Amino acid sequence: MGLLSLSFFGLWILGIVAAQPKTEPREVDAINKIIDHWNLRSKLNLSVDPCIQNATWAPDTANPRIACDCSNTVCHITHLKIYALDVSGEIPQELFVLTELMDLNLGQNVINGSIPPDIRQLSKMKYLSLGINNITGLVPVELGNLTKLLSLSLSSNNFQGTLPPQLGNLISLTQLYIDSSGLSGPIPAELSNLKLLQILWASDNRFTGKLPEFLGTFADLKDLRLQGTSLEGPIPSSYGALTKLEDLRIGDLTGDDSSLAFLENLTSLYILSLRNCRIAGTLPEQLSTLPNLKIMDLSFNKLTGPIPTSFKKFSSLQYLYLGSNNLNGDLTPDVISSNLIALDVSFNSLSGNLLLHRKDLSTNVVGTSINDNNLSNGKASSMLQCLQGNTKCSTKFPSTSFSVNCGGKKLSSADGIQYDNDSELLGAASLYSSSNSQWSLSSMGVYISNPNGPRYITQTDSQITNTLDSELYKTARIAPSSLRYYGLGLDSGKYEVKLHFAEIQMDDSHSWKGLGRRVFDVYIQGEKVLEDFNIINVAGGSKKALIKSFEANVTNTVMDIHFYWAGKGTCCIPFQSTFGPLVSAIHVTQVSNLDGSSNSKSNKKRVGRILGITIGCAAGLLIISSIFYLWRAKKEPKHTLVHTDSPTKG
Ligand SMILES: *[C@@H]1O[C@H](CO)[C@@H](O)[C@H](O)[C@H]1NC(C)=O
Ligand SMILES: *[C@@H]1O[C@H](CO)[C@@H](O)[C@H](O)[C@H]1NC(C)=O
Ligand SMILES: *[C@@H]1O[C@H](CO)[C@@H](O)[C@H](O)[C@H]1NC(C)=O
Ligand SMILES: *[C@@H]1O[C@H](CO)[C@@H](O)[C@H](O)[C@H]1NC(C)=O
Ligand SMILES: *[C@@H]1O[C@H](CO)[C@@H](O)[C@H](O)[C@H]1NC(C)=O
Ligand SMILES: *[C@@H]1O[C@H](CO)[C@@H](O)[C@H](O)[C@H]1NC(C)=O
Ligand SMILES: *[C@@H]1O[C@H](CO)[C@@H](O)[C@H](O)[C@H]1NC(C)=O
Ligand SMILES: *[C@@H]1O[C@H](CO)[C@@H](O)[C@H](O)[C@H]1NC(C)=O
Ligand SMILES: *[C@@H]1O[C@H](CO)[C@@H](O)[C@H](O)[C@H]1NC(C)=O
Repeated sequence: MGLLSLSFFGLWILGIVAAQPKTEPREVDAINKIIDHWNLRSKLNLSVDPCIQNATWAPDTANPRIACDCSNTVCHITHLKIYALDVSGEIPQELFVLTELMDLNLGQNVINGSIPPDIRQLSKMKYLSLGINNITGLVPVELGNLTKLLSLSLSSNNFQGTLPPQLGNLISLTQLYIDSSGLSGPIPAELSNLKLLQILWASDNRFTGKLPEFLGTFADLKDLRLQGTSLEGPIPSSYGALTKLEDLRIGDLTGDDSSLAFLENLTSLYILSLRNCRIAGTLPEQLSTLPNLKIMDLSFNKLTGPIPTSFKKFSSLQYLYLGSNNLNGDLTPDVISSNLIALDVSFNSLSGNLLLHRKDLSTNVVGTSINDNNLSNGKASSMLQCLQGNTKCSTKFPSTSFSVNCGGKKLSSADGIQYDNDSELLGAASLYSSSNSQWSLSSMGVYISNPNGPRYITQTDSQITNTLDSELYKTARIAPSSLRYYGLGLDSGKYEVKLHFAEIQMDDSHSWKGLGRRVFDVYIQGEKVLEDFNIINVAGGSKKALIKSFEANVTNTVMDIHFYWAGKGTCCIPFQSTFGPLVSAIHVTQVSNLDGSSNSKSNKKRVGRILGITIGCAAGLLIISSIFYLWRAKKEPKHTLVHTDSPTKG
């Protein structure tokens, strides 16, 4: 993962050596045992010396790859790559005979067991990747003996315990990938020695304590990811010195409030995501001077004040997310940069008229005048205002149920329920309303590494088990940040909310492809009803149907069902941008009126229950007083996003 290209080392094996020296016999024996241990003989039948000149397994691109250093009287194996070949079983002891290894890539396999302490013997190692495996146990303190390491990847494994302080000895390290590794607890202060770090991916771990101040001393840091941890704010002002930062993603902080003042000099920023970080204060005027900023996500914070008029001057910004804050003031054309592809300012207190191309409801691109305190777009928009709660809403012909085949076509289930068509392709900030005006949905967020990828719908041809309604689960809505369905015009009363799920993007095979974890939260009427929900875990596998039922009250005509990504789960297994919420279908039906009289048509079985957890983030506390989306149907230039969220590159 993330290893530098090492083609120049390949030159060793082409060394012009008249009589090629023999390989150290212990190493020949060891490499053969390793090949057999991992059942690779059919891919690499080493019947000759592993270090012969011009070996087919020596070039950079070979896989498995073995390359050697023959510059002395005896050859040594220096490079070993066994990448994405689904080798399983533990790390064999023979590996530690190869003491001259300087590049070991065992990424994307299903290696299990723990990392043996003997790893210390590989002290020449510069590039070590164990990312995307099924490794358990503690991260051995002996990794701290590999002081020549430049790049270390432990991402997407199932380690236990904390990061050992000895990793602070790895003072040459420039790349450290420990996202989704299973680690927890405090980040050791000793890591402050890793002054040369350029890339640190540490999201999706149960790290605790304060966001480390010392990261602000890593002057070369270009890429920092710390989403979905248990770390506390504030974002230290020391981060203001990280002027080389290009990609900064911090999210889901608890603790003290942060401000945006530290961004002042971070002029290299290209991607900035500070979702759900308890950021208070106003939007700084100077943000718009960041010349390269392309994606900025400040949603789910506590920002106040207006959107500065300087925001019109962003030179590179294409995706702007400011939803779920307390922004107010006028949203006028003066604040919208013409390069924007997606703007989300939903759930703020903005007002003003604005001429914009917008994609919403059942129309596509419409030039319209919007007073967002008075959205004149029919039932859907006016009903969204009922979410505020401060307007008393009622409806002449209330409905008592709605059903959606999320991401799919209209369909009748085996038990006769009609699920509505929800197959509209959405964009990076979209509001869509059903043709019968019974529900609408908002989808927010950009799949940073492939913005042209699946248009927020995923589908499969495979059969779905555990259900008579396989078709219902073959399509699903997905979103990289937030997906919200609203039932509209509903009669007051008690409702049963049935959420249908089946994981159809992730595998449960015994391949590395089966190592992905999708984790998200669900809120109904603002209450968190599912936390760290993992469909595969609960359903007992991929492509298995699962229904979760909840009870919720409607008092103001609207039912709000919110699927939210809190930064957790793997990012990129089995392919890039496989994360965030997924839902297959929704069925909501009244079970009794407010007076308690029961609705005869309803099915009163209660499978789930509402968990009484009040959410700690801004999202749930906000007073919702406006909703506004923009989606410009503008073609994204291809290949402009050079940044990737894949840990599997290289
Ligand atoms: C490996 O090569 C040797 C010698 O060429 C041959 O005898 C043997 O059958 C091969 N083994 C496999 C598993 O291909
Ligand atoms: C290896 O390749 C080089 C360049 O193609 C060639 O000159 C050399 O003779 C080859 N050596 C062997 C042992 O095949
Ligand atoms: C590793 O997986 C193999 C099967 O591939 C199993 O036999 C072995 O017990 C596992 N080891 C550990 C430590 O879980
Ligand atoms: C490994 O590192 C520890 C310090 O963390 C040191 O005490 C020990 O001597 C080192 N061992 C080797 C073999 O270098
Ligand atoms: C930005 O740089 C200027 C000039 O070096 C400095 O005075 C200011 O404190 C810096 N701002 C931040 C937030 O670090
Ligand atoms: C909303 O706008 C419409 C037309 O623009 C206007 O007739 C109506 O009075 C407005 N309603 C409110 C509550 O401001
Ligand atoms: C379902 O919705 C899609 C997208 O909005 C639309 O193109 C299609 O015509 C609809 N199908 C039916 C049967 O209404
Ligand atoms: C990973 O290991 C666990 C046991 O620790 C096992 O249940 C699971 O099947 C393994 N995953 C794969 C993909 O082999
Ligand atoms: C719904 O309202 C009833 C009656 O007011 C109350 O007892 C119940 O707790 C409410 N349910 C939820 C999920 O809020």
